Parts: sequence; structure tokens; C-alpha cells
Amino acid sequence: MSGLLCYCRAGFEPELAAELGERAAAAGHAGYAVTDRDSGYVRFLVPGGDAHALSRALPWRDLVFARQKLQLLADLPALDPKDRIAPIIAALQSASVAGPPAAAGQAPYGTLLVEHPDSDAAGPLSGLARAFGNALRPALRKAGLLAASDDPRRPRLHVCLLAGDHLLLACSDSRDSSPWPNGVPRLRLHRDAPSRSALKLEEAFMSMLDDAERARLLKPGMHAADLGAAPGGWTWVLLREGLQVMAIDNGPLREHVMDTGRVTHLREDGFRWQPPRPLDWMVCDMVEQPRRVASRMATWFREGWCRQAVFNLKLPMKKRWLETTLCLDLFAREAGRPLTVRARQLYHDREEITVIAMPSGS
Ligand SMILES: C[S@@+](CC[C@H](N)C(=O)[O-])C[C@H]1O[C@@H](n2cnc3c(N)ncnc32)[C@H](O)[C@@H]1O
Repeated sequence: MSGLLCYCRAGFEPELAAELGERAAAAGHAGYAVTDRDSGYVRFLVPGGDAHALSRALPWRDLVFARQKLQLLADLPALDPKDRIAPIIAALQSASVAGPPAAAGQAPYGTLLVEHPDSDAAGPLSGLARAFGNALRPALRKAGLLAASDDPRRPRLHVCLLAGDHLLLACSDSRDSSPWPNGVPRLRLHRDAPSRSALKLEEAFMSMLDDAERARLLKPGMHAADLGAAPGGWTWVLLREGLQVMAIDNGPLREHVMDTGRVTHLREDGFRWQPPRPLDWMVCDMVEQPRRVASRMATWFREGWCRQAVFNLKLPMKKRWLETTLCLDLFAREAGRPLTVRARQLYHDREEITVIAMPSGS
């Protein structure tokens, strides 16, 4: 079996399938997506094709609807629940590994992740995934397939449980995949956070900027605007990073956010308000037509009102991949300056995606 295995939010398989199909075709790879509605994963198969090349042509960072991108190794259906390990070892001994080749005598995989799709059907497999991982790890080490101690820089082996007797084997290159199991960063809602939305901005900074970008672009003392700020979750995240915030919303902000003394609350229309001077950051979580939001965000960049931005595009409509591409194209065109733009459906995003934009080369 040659191709990719990508995880997504359950219900967004059609969007991910469309994205993979369009991007693979644009990169000259013939293939097709296989998925079931609400399964939480999509396989993109390239029979007889080069899955390594396909994977390189579709970097994980650039994918919007994939929480994780893996290279498929094998589909093992109808397993005997009394011995799932022997067929896994047999399949791995004949599979080719993603990422840097192992040195002589080195095990091909640095870590093992036993996962299951994030879906109602696969949820009950979490106990099995834990127990099975504990049983499989020593067997893989004994067979020389897994490093004696975890090495996160080496290719990772993923076992994706679909049922008690059915699993997929896949691998990932740690430089081109989500670092988190299931592609889900673990974030806990802080008890002072004014809203659950705070998790979205936290996740955006954590997963869409690398450590060097984050240290360079997000510094105490910087100035930001938060459009559609109430009750204050995103403003609170910016405050924790040490920023000063102009919070734009007709609705009230939580008192402890205002008490910091670093927030100016303006009851203005976020589609009309403009900052008195250029800002380091603008963030926007206004619930509106995505094209209208994308266009307004572009105005901010075109006019030089902010250097960087994080904004959400709500996607309640049916053709969500099409709408995503329309909005991102419109944004890039109207912004009228070279920007690095990353878009992703975060774990904490529901019917929406999050976009981060910054000057190219920053
Ligand atoms: C999803 S909530 C924002 C939640 C916020 N990001 C947080 O973390 O707490 C959307 C907010 O956008 C505001 N909003 C919608 N349209 C707006 C507009 N034209 N101008 C300003 N605020 C607007 C609403 O009042 C609402 O408070």
C-alpha cells in the first residue's frame, strides 16, 4: 500500500480529501483519496507511485485540514486479536521507512506511537492503544525495528488502530509532521482564561510558529489589536505574552482582564476601526462571512496597520475547501505585499480554520 495517511477533525474528511487531491494533482502525482464520513482520517493512495516524493511535495506545515501527515506502510485487516504483533513485525520487515536512512546497525524507527482516529467509532480504542503499545514496544526492540530508547529525531512508527482486529501501519519524518500524538497538542484551559477560545490562540502560536519565530515575533512590550475581543480569551493570551492590547468589541471584557492595566477596550465596529499607529500584531475572531473577514484582514496588511496577524475564518457552509482556497487567494491578492501565510484547522477549531500571516522572510 503506497500513499499517505492523514488525520483530521471528524466530519472534515471531504475537505481533507479535496485538499490532498488538489495539491497532489498540482504537484504532478496521480492518486485518489479513500475515506469514510466521520472517520477522522483520509488515506490518499498512489498505486505504483512514489509515496516519498508525494509526501515531500505536500509538507505537513502547508496542509490546512490535516492534523497529521503520515506515510502508509501497510493495512492489516482481519487480525487475530490473540497475536497482532507477529503480522506487524512481518509487515515492517518488508516496508520502506520515511525520513533519514538508518545507519548500519541502527533501528529504523526512533519512537512508537499507537494511536486511533479522533472519531466516535474509534474513541473506545484508547485503552487498547495504551495496552497494546506497552506490549508492542519491547517486541519491536527485540526485532531490531525500534531504538532501544526513544529518539524523537528518528522516523516515528505509527500504529493506527481502526478496530480491535484492524490497524494501519504508517511512519512519519519528525521534520515534516506534527510532533504530537494524533496530531493533537495537549493544552489545558487555564482557570483564569475568560473563554475556551483562549485555547485557539494558544494553539495557533504553539503549532503555527516554530520556537525561533515565536521568540522573535512575540515579545513583551509589543502592541496588538484584538478585533471581536469579548469576553477576552485572545486578549488574555496576548497579555500573558506581555503585550499591550487594544480590544475592539461592543461586548464586555472580563474584569480581571481589564484590571491588568494593559488593555484599552473600545466599543467600535471591528470592520471599520483602524489603529492610531502601526501595531506588531492584529488578531481577529469576529464571527462573519469568511470572505468579508479575509478582505478586511488584507486591508490591514495593505495599509501597513500591522506586521503580523492571526485570524479565524468561520466555515459553516458546505464547500469548505473551496471557500478556504477562495478566501486565502483573496487575502493574498488584496494584501498586495509578500507574506508568509499558514492556515490550519486547529484541534480547538470547530467549523473554522485559523490563519497566521507575517512578512515574508520574517
Ligand atoms: C467568538 S467571539 C470572540 C471570542 C474571543 N476571541 C475570546 O477569546 O473570548 C466573537 C466576538 O466578535 C464580536 N463581533 C462580531 N462582529 C463584530 C464587529 N463588527 N465588531 C466588533 N466585534 C464584533 C462579538 O461581539 C463577539 O464578542
